[in-house]
Amino acid sequence: MDATLNIDDLRRAARRFLPRGMFEYIDRGTEDETALSRLRRSFDRCELMPRVLVDTNGRSLETGLFGRRRPLPFVVAPTAAAGLVRFGGEVLLARAAQAAGIPFCVSTQSITAIEEIAASGAELWFQLYVWRDRGLTHRLLDRVAACGTETLVLTVDTAVSPKREYNQRNGFGVPVTPSLRGAVDVALHPAWAWTVLLRCLRSGGWPAYAHYPPEFRGRITEAAAHDPVRLCDRVCWSDVAELRRRWKGRIVIKGILSPDDARQAAEAGVDAVVVSNHGGRNLDSAPSPLAVLPRIADEVGDRLTVLADSGVRRGSDAAKLLAAGASAVLLGRAPLFGLAADGQRGAERAFAILADELDRTMSLLGCRSVADLRGCRMG
Ligand SMILES: Cc1cc2nc3c(=O)[nH]c(=O)nc-3n(C[C@H](O)[C@H](O)[C@H](O)COP(=O)(O)O)c2cc1C
Repeated sequence: MDATLNIDDLRRAARRFLPRGMFEYIDRGTEDETALSRLRRSFDRCELMPRVLVDTNGRSLETGLFGRRRPLPFVVAPTAAAGLVRFGGEVLLARAAQAAGIPFCVSTQSITAIEEIAASGAELWFQLYVWRDRGLTHRLLDRVAACGTETLVLTVDTAVSPKREYNQRNGFGVPVTPSLRGAVDVALHPAWAWTVLLRCLRSGGWPAYAHYPPEFRGRITEAAAHDPVRLCDRVCWSDVAELRRRWKGRIVIKGILSPDDARQAAEAGVDAVVVSNHGGRNLDSAPSPLAVLPRIADEVGDRLTVLADSGVRRGSDAAKLLAAGASAVLLGRAPLFGLAADGQRGAERAFAILADELDRTMSLLGCRSVADLRGCRMG
C-alpha cells in the first residue's frame, strides 16, 4: 500500500481487482459524462493564492462539525453496493472511518445492514432514499433510529435512475441481464470472484440490499425494480416537513446545487446541506459544486452547516471546497478505490493520502487551521 502515492494509484489498483462492470459502475458518470469532466475542470481551473512567510508550524486539520471536534474535515459518503467491492465492504469502510476518526454514512442501498455495521464503533450517519411506500420508509427510519443514529442524510438528487449506458452494456443494470460478457468479465477477475462473490454466495446467497423489506430484498439487482421500494419522483418539501416531524436527530439534505433550494432547506428546519452533483453521476448538465458553493454558503451559511462533495481526488480539491465555504467534505470514490485496492487498509490509505495533501496545501497557503482556508483568495 505504501507504494500507492495518490488516489489515482488506488484507482488503478481498483481497476485491476474489480470486474469491469463493477469498476465502471463506481468510476463513471452518466450519459456523455460532461458533469464528470466539468467537475475535474472546475478544480483544475481554480487557483488558490499562496501566502508566504507565515509560520504554519503546528497546523492542524482538526475540524468542528455538529458540535464535535474531529481530526479531519472528511466524511465517508454513502455509496450503494460497497459490499460488492470487498466482502463486508461497508463494515471495512466503517472500520477505516473509525480509525481515522471520521463519520461513515451508510447508504439505503447498502449490502450490509446498519445493525451489523454499528459493531464497527464508527460514528454512523444514514442516507435515506424515500421509497414510494412511505410506510415502509418510516419503518426503515425506526430501525435506523434504534441503532442510535443521530444524523439522517436525505438524498434529493435521484428522483429517477440516471441513464448510465455503460451499466447496460456491461450487464450491470437493474435488473441484471445475464450475459456471456458478464460471465467473461467475472472470470477475468478471479481474485474478486473468489474473495467477494463466492464468499457472498457461501454466506447467505446472492448479495441483496440489506435495508429493503424481506419481501422486496431479492437479488441486489432486482430490489429496486419492486414498486413500493422504487426511487420516488414525487418526493417534495412536504416529505422534508414530515421527516422533520418524525426524525429527532439532525437532518442533512444531500444533492443541493441551487441557492434557492438551500434557502428553502434552511426554512424547512434542516440542519445541513451537502452541495453535491452526486459525483457527476446523475444530471449530466449539473453544475460543479465549486461553482455554486460560495453563493450557497453566503446565502445560508449563518443558518445551516454547509458540506460539499463530488470529484475530490487530491487534498487540494478538498482545500478548494473548504475555502469556498464547506465545513467538511464527503468522499465517495476515493475510499471505494482504496477499499477495492486493499480492503480496510486501502480505505485508510485513501484518507491518509488526502489528509497529507490537504496538510501540505494548507501550509503552502499560509493556513494553520481548516478555518483559515476560508480566508484564502481564490481565482
Ligand atoms: C458507486 C457509488 C454509489 C453511490 N451510491 C450513493 C447512494 O446510495 N446514495 C447517495 O446519496 N449517494 C451515492 N453516491 C454518491 C456519493 O454519495 C457522493 O455524492 C459522490 O460519490 C461524491 O463524488 P466522488 O465519488 O467523486 O467523491 C454514490 C457514488 C458512487 C461512486
